[in-house]
Amino acid sequence: MLQIDLTGRRAFVAGVADDAGFGFAIAKALAEAGATVCAGTWPPALNIFLNLLERGKMDESRRLRSGQLLSFEKIYALDAAYDTYEQIPEEIRVSKRYKDVGDCSVEGVAQRFVSDFGERPLDIVVHSLANGPEVKKPLLETSRAGYLTAVSVSAYSLISMVSRFGPIMREGGAFMSLTYMAGERVIPGYGGGMSSAKAALEGDTRTLAFEAGRRFGVRINTISAGPWASRAASAIGIIERMMDYVAKNSPLTSPLDPSDVGNVAAFLCSPLAGGITGTTVYVDKGYHAMGMGVEAVAEPR
Ligand SMILES: NC(=O)c1ccc[n+]([C@@H]2O[C@H](COP(=O)([O-])OP(=O)(O)OC[C@H]3O[C@@H](n4cnc5c(N)ncnc54)[C@H](O)[C@@H]3O)[C@@H](O)[C@H]2O)c1
Repeated sequence: MLQIDLTGRRAFVAGVADDAGFGFAIAKALAEAGATVCAGTWPPALNIFLNLLERGKMDESRRLRSGQLLSFEKIYALDAAYDTYEQIPEEIRVSKRYKDVGDCSVEGVAQRFVSDFGERPLDIVVHSLANGPEVKKPLLETSRAGYLTAVSVSAYSLISMVSRFGPIMREGGAFMSLTYMAGERVIPGYGGGMSSAKAALEGDTRTLAFEAGRRFGVRINTISAGPWASRAASAIGIIERMMDYVAKNSPLTSPLDPSDVGNVAAFLCSPLAGGITGTTVYVDKGYHAMGMGVEAVAEPR
């Protein structure tokens, strides 16, 4: 049987802080396929995440088909807004959530992987993080600082990760990220420069696939996922309505489940997808194919 087999591979999933988002679903799918999974968690969310894990609050969602619980080999504090320790402002370094986590920059985490597991510790790196402080504001009303933060944390962070993790990946390594259709079509309400960040992320996926493919021999793809009420998406304020609209107007009307995204991510990171790089793959029940809302013209059938 043809199988997604990631046995013996190590993955780093950056952007996991609970069991509700795509990062968690991807981590679970990678583990189902046999990979060892490490997580990267934003320092402000780290303690809550560790507490949820310790207190068994996520045991049900951690359950794998084998009956075992998904366990993270290591959980690293990661703030993808910073490439190096020197870039972390002093007031952040000494603040409550950061003072005990050490170097949580992208470079710092890459170095920790090497000191924890050796020179080439990774096969898979997943970028499942985004932050747009002004996401509720229309682009027209977004401040320069809000826009640049959205693009820095949600898009440049992928470039930073590929440049620092690319050299420590084993042969056949794969990067993956998550994008949203707002990068290519207008999604009213998805503001604050987040649409710009997703457009950058998709363009960069192509350019990085070429550059890092030649330099490190790695593949880079992004999944354009349909709307899902994760913690981050709930900050948009209209996520339930977005999900409802998409379910009513997509070719497939069954609701999207994060495991749909997790399974495709596991495939894209596996040797079965060895010929796929630089691509945006839609996991959205086909919504991207539509040009008009169903209810405007016909009774859904
Ligand atoms: N939920 C959706 O509707 C949807 C649709 C398409 C794409 N996406 C994308 O999926 C990815 C994962 O988001 P999600 O919706 O699963 O929500 P989520 O809340 O599970 O994940 C976002 C994560 O980013 C982390 N984060 C924020 N700022 C960070 C920083 N500076 N450094 C490190 N981590 C940081 C948060 O702590 C959180 O864990 C994002 O790129 C998001 O844009 C989401």
